Amino acid sequence: MRAVVLVGGFGTRLRPLTNTVPKPMLPVGHRPMIARLIDRLARGGVTDVVLALGFKPEPFIEAFPDGRCGDVSLTYAVEPEPLDTAGAIRFAAEAAGIDDTFVVANGDVMTDLDVAGLVATHRAAGAEATVHLIGVDDPSAFGVVEIADDGSIRQFVEKPARGTEPSNLINAGTYVFEPSVLARIPSGVRVSIERETFPSIVADGGMFGHSTDDYWIDAGVPDLYRAANLDLLGGRRVHESAEAFAPGADVDPAATVTNTLVGAGARIEAGTTVVDSVILPGAHIGARAQVESSLIMGRVGADATVIESIIGADGTLDDDDHLAYSTLPEVD
Ligand code: GTP
Repeated sequence: MRAVVLVGGFGTRLRPLTNTVPKPMLPVGHRPMIARLIDRLARGGVTDVVLALGFKPEPFIEAFPDGRCGDVSLTYAVEPEPLDTAGAIRFAAEAAGIDDTFVVANGDVMTDLDVAGLVATHRAAGAEATVHLIGVDDPSAFGVVEIADDGSIRQFVEKPARGTEPSNLINAGTYVFEPSVLARIPSGVRVSIERETFPSIVADGGMFGHSTDDYWIDAGVPDLYRAANLDLLGGRRVHESAEAFAPGADVDPAATVTNTLVGAGARIEAGTTVVDSVILPGAHIGARAQVESSLIMGRVGADATVIESIIGADGTLDDDDHLAYSTLPEVD
């Protein structure tokens, strides 16, 4: 089975981390989130992945120079300009010559979904497109579906106003498509799969849902990116876990580091207190600094305090300074 994985977005909501690292290359449990995603696709029977690239393609190509991620064979489709989700799927599928049933995944979804089960639902229904659905408390920020008893989707509404959602079941970002879906997408222009293609498949009765209660996180926003990391320490994942400190993390024995991941090459000095945070590769936390519920890629000075903030690779907090509910450098 082949898959297209969407990894060409700008990742604006994770700035400033994505100023230097594209979102799907950011680590979750010390591995790029894209590598964890590809492993999961492989567990579900995917053998070949086309990465739909646009913004910053080089880090992906450098990370997998021999065109493999584990047992999965990788190819790259680099868009000349961002084509949005559907445009990118068509471009990548054509580049790879896909002409059979295939899987599509958003590159920032961390889930325990069994992709083989999604494919089985698709085939049993004779669907043109099948979408993984997850129930959430507040669906208004997502694509929300109304589903019939036979699993067919009657309505697909992208980001409905709160209170008008047809259900609590949302598009969880993994799909199975027949190649006929590609013919619905105009070539070479920006097209949204969620806003344009899905409603047209629904109107023709060809779209089905596969609802599960698997672990699921859209790791594209700061709090959930942090949660996707911390959940690997807490035993909340079925197939995956991580150590708190990566090999090559340099944590002074006189630092207090709790419920936190520390990446390779990061340095935490003596007397610091770090809680509920992700300290990314290359970060430096100065002596006696305090860091809480934050994402740090840059430098935190000695005796500084960071609360619920993000410091990118190009950010430095001076000694004795305080940063709360903010980012360094600032983002607009
Ligand atoms: P934000 O800027 O924070 O909204 O992030 P994003 O740009 O990644 O957008 P979003 O999370 O909505 O995108 C969902 C998935 O589609 C992600 O895996 C993106 O990498 C990918 N994506 C979005 N737009 C494009 C595009 O134009 N081309 C390609 N190849 N992928 C895209």
